[in-house]
Amino acid sequence: MTFIEAAQAPLRKTGHIKLHGPEAFAAMRKAGHLTATLLDAVTPLVRPGVTTNEIDQFCFDFAMAHKAYPAPLDYRGFRKSVCTSINHVVCHGIPDDKPLREGDVINIDVTLIVEGWHGDSSRMYQVGAVSRRASRLIEVTYEALMRGIAAVKPGATTHDIGTAIQVFAEAERCSVVREFCGHGLGQLFHDEPNILHYSHKTSAIPLKPGMIFTIEPMLNLGRPHVKVLADGWTAVTRDRSLSAQFEHSIGVTETGAEIFTLSPAGLDLPPAQV
Ligand code: MF3
Ligand code: CO
Ligand code: CO
Repeated sequence: MTFIEAAQAPLRKTGHIKLHGPEAFAAMRKAGHLTATLLDAVTPLVRPGVTTNEIDQFCFDFAMAHKAYPAPLDYRGFRKSVCTSINHVVCHGIPDDKPLREGDVINIDVTLIVEGWHGDSSRMYQVGAVSRRASRLIEVTYEALMRGIAAVKPGATTHDIGTAIQVFAEAERCSVVREFCGHGLGQLFHDEPNILHYSHKTSAIPLKPGMIFTIEPMLNLGRPHVKVLADGWTAVTRDRSLSAQFEHSIGVTETGAEIFTLSPAGLDLPPAQV
């Protein structure tokens, strides 16, 4: 292995699905807790007039103050500490100097590395008063994530997760984005397995205790199709319809799932602002 290969090693998927033990679960609990604490702490900052660069800076400072590292920073050329995806941006929005506006909905996606382990979670925040359709999309997307998590147990498969999400989303007249998926994580940011948010019977992977991965469905009010802008990151809905996303990091237990990124403040679904 050359130095360059060694430096890039943490970026590479391992090609097999790790089954983690109690020490890994303890480390993920710690990383997940700090990640969720940051998503809690950022809540009062999300208001009209604030720029996504200010949110990014707040998250960077929080990470430094807690001896954590924001995984997106310098990840495959990404230049910020968090992703901020507003309105029709599906995911991977890049923080900039544009102020948030009343009525915007924004996903803030945080990944903190704590003692070498990744906590990865995102939530939707409402900027001031938002439209009824926007707040409904947010509620449906949150419920879709939680139904996906509820499908997790030994003996079930990744297909059961995807089906739970897709069936609920489409019954609520929302569409499921196909181009991005959840992922294994731990000491790697993006590892096996891929967690698809729609039915995929022929490529289902059986779930086993010790697996650690994210579930992070993206739902659109319009059609499911996305495109990536010229910056190489920002994914938007092709029809410019609103998009929402929630993400938790979880571990498969003997009986179900443990959520590592639950909000200590009970803000998993951030409240509407009035
Ligand atoms: N946090 C995102 C995820 O859920 C990945 C962001 S990669 C970045 O997998 F480079 F855009 F930050
Ligand atoms: Co993720
Ligand atoms: Co994320």
